[in-house]
Amino acid sequence: MTVAALLTAKALRAGYGAGDVLQGIDIEIATGEIVAVLGRNGVGKSTLMKSLIGILPLRSGAIDYGGRNLAKESADSRARQGIGYVPQGREIFPHMTVEENLRMGRLIRRDRDKAEAVRADVYGYFPFLSERGAQRAGTLSGGQQEMLAIARALNGDPALLLLDEPSDGVQPSIVQEIGDFLVKLVAERAIAVLIVEQNIDLIQSVAGRAFVMDKGRFVAELDRAKIQDTQTLSHHLSI
Ligand SMILES: Nc1ncnc2c1ncn2[C@@H]1O[C@H](COP(=O)(O)OP(=O)(O)OP(=O)(O)O)[C@@H](O)[C@H]1O
Ligand SMILES: [Mg+2]
Repeated sequence: MTVAALLTAKALRAGYGAGDVLQGIDIEIATGEIVAVLGRNGVGKSTLMKSLIGILPLRSGAIDYGGRNLAKESADSRARQGIGYVPQGREIFPHMTVEENLRMGRLIRRDRDKAEAVRADVYGYFPFLSERGAQRAGTLSGGQQEMLAIARALNGDPALLLLDEPSDGVQPSIVQEIGDFLVKLVAERAIAVLIVEQNIDLIQSVAGRAFVMDKGRFVAELDRAKIQDTQTLSHHLSI
């Protein structure tokens, strides 16, 4: 890669009990990129995201982020340094209102003025949120809940956004909308996006590069041309 990476992770190993799920992952991502991670169920995609945000401690490896090794830092500290995370299944608070959910993301920010500007941007990206502020989040559709979860993460003004299967349980028209939004987001802001996805249309509409994961390792890296080749892409999704 020619552009200096925002995040460079090396030889990541992490897991839950005996044995490691992540078997030595290397990944780098630069500002302005949307990079996808693909692979069958259970290969370790979410485990990778959790170890990048810091919910799951690394057993070994290094994460360089703007010249600093995050490997031993907490998830809170990583979030304050600009890593946003939207977990698989979204994890919004269904009994709280839309506005209350959004406020959770803003708590990460200390800079009040910047927080106001970011808030305006987020409502600009997802105008329905400003009309639904008082509504309970659990009453939104799956797609709207996903957008809420993304908006919540954006409220922390991230430099790196980690998205774990945003298309899951979302109707196709909204998946397309989320894809269009992500392309616009990286065009307008200094941000990098790492997205775990299995939805072919979404991967093809956003990703500039993709890593294929199997059993805790990357087994292939696809460039834009390979991603656009639907046969190649579906083959890699079912490895
Ligand atoms: N909290 C946990 N405790 C123990 N094992 C776990 C835990 N979470 C995941 N695993 C195991 O770790 C492995 C990798 O799971 P992970 O969730 O990272 O896969 P994934 O690629 O995200 O799958 P999916 O596509 O279904 O989301 C699986 O064998 C899974 O059963
Ligand atoms: Mg997962």
